[in-house]
Amino acid sequence: MKEQIQFVDEGVRDWISDEEFKNFQATAEAAKERLMKREGAGNDFLGWMDLPEQYDRDELRRIKEAARKIQNDSRVLLVIGIGGSYLGARAAIEFLHHSFYNSLSDDERTTPKIYFCGNSNSSKYLADLMDILGDQDFSINVISKSGTTTESAVAFRIFKKKLEEKYGKEEAAKRVYATTDRQRGALKKMADKEGYTCFVIPDDVGGRYSVLTAVGLLPIAVSGADVDALLEGAADMRRQVMEASYEENPSVRYAACRNILLRKGKAVEVLANYETSLHYVSEWWKQLYGESEGKNQRGLFPAAVDLTTDLHSMGQYMQDGARILIETVMNVEESPRTVEIPAEEEDLDGLNYLAHKTVDFVNKAAMEGTIAAHEEGGVPIMRIDLPRQDEYTLGQLFYFFWFACGVSGYIGAINPFDQPGVESYKRNMFAILGKPQK
Ligand code: PA5
Repeated sequence: MKEQIQFVDEGVRDWISDEEFKNFQATAEAAKERLMKREGAGNDFLGWMDLPEQYDRDELRRIKEAARKIQNDSRVLLVIGIGGSYLGARAAIEFLHHSFYNSLSDDERTTPKIYFCGNSNSSKYLADLMDILGDQDFSINVISKSGTTTESAVAFRIFKKKLEEKYGKEEAAKRVYATTDRQRGALKKMADKEGYTCFVIPDDVGGRYSVLTAVGLLPIAVSGADVDALLEGAADMRRQVMEASYEENPSVRYAACRNILLRKGKAVEVLANYETSLHYVSEWWKQLYGESEGKNQRGLFPAAVDLTTDLHSMGQYMQDGARILIETVMNVEESPRTVEIPAEEEDLDGLNYLAHKTVDFVNKAAMEGTIAAHEEGGVPIMRIDLPRQDEYTLGQLFYFFWFACGVSGYIGAINPFDQPGVESYKRNMFAILGKPQK
């Protein structure tokens, strides 16, 4: 059995007694059962639950084949998408690869550079990206379930033009990979007309639960990461959270702790990492919990910090500001890289006490010290121990958070699988832009 991620909740014991935790068992288990029996709100969006084990193997073979073609004919892959059609792939690629992946030389990185766009309306970003792209050979993976999202559609139109100018219409079409709905939407219509290679986002999988479909798997495979190990990690976590008892169940315990603390007046959950390359895992998590739980004027506000960086900006608030916070720490137990602190003959900077120690040794000391300080300062802390930064671990983490989110949403009596609030800004924007009514 490969190493499993661990959920540690010792740091909430001063806020949640054993008895209280026990008393919450019936509520948490009822929510889990509703999810497993597919009887809760939004049960037409539970396709993610079985994906790691039942993912369409033919689609997976096509994804790997397309990834190989892109690796062979492109120096750059542009991934166009926003929200659930963007964050999972970026989280995985940054978690799994070199911190300066795109800047490595061709000897150091044999797979294409990967740039993300269509995730904002920034013209500066798009123009700058156009400069970086220059005359390099490239392909596009445009990802949109609805096929009509403005940010992604605008970016696609711009880079499609560049692709067609560079290669001609026919050749350009062979370099566009459209990940979208099986039948509906403008992107699907365009893809069929132009002859793009298509991948399907299943009807019953929502954006923030879609990284283990072609939405995430294609760009992740292009980066050279092992998508089978990612699916295997998710499948192993799936078995664990579906079968384990209340006491032993990481996702159900996490869901229970968050909800008990919410009921005690905590308003914000801060997800903290001590590895810069987990920044986009936190962004992905923010979307997952923000869109799933921020409903009916309730829910924990999901925020994130990169530590120790943000201890020098947000540290004061976390230690001593309004006591509305809970904190969840993602702890990578074994850093993928080792850097030793050198000794110096003359100890001018006073750092010789750390000579020959690793930077990760300092990082772990900072983490331990911060956890103790925040607990003393009145912040309940949960910890997720990640044995290492690899595909298998990340697959587990994705599934751990998904399952917990479903259970947590049902404990809170909301539908964790829709996002009606997201439409409001779009309505206003379309009215201002003068979008024709259908
Ligand atoms: O989770 C969601 O459903 C959203 O964040 C969507 O993923 C996001 O709005 C992008 O939508 P689409 O894939 O339809 O372009």
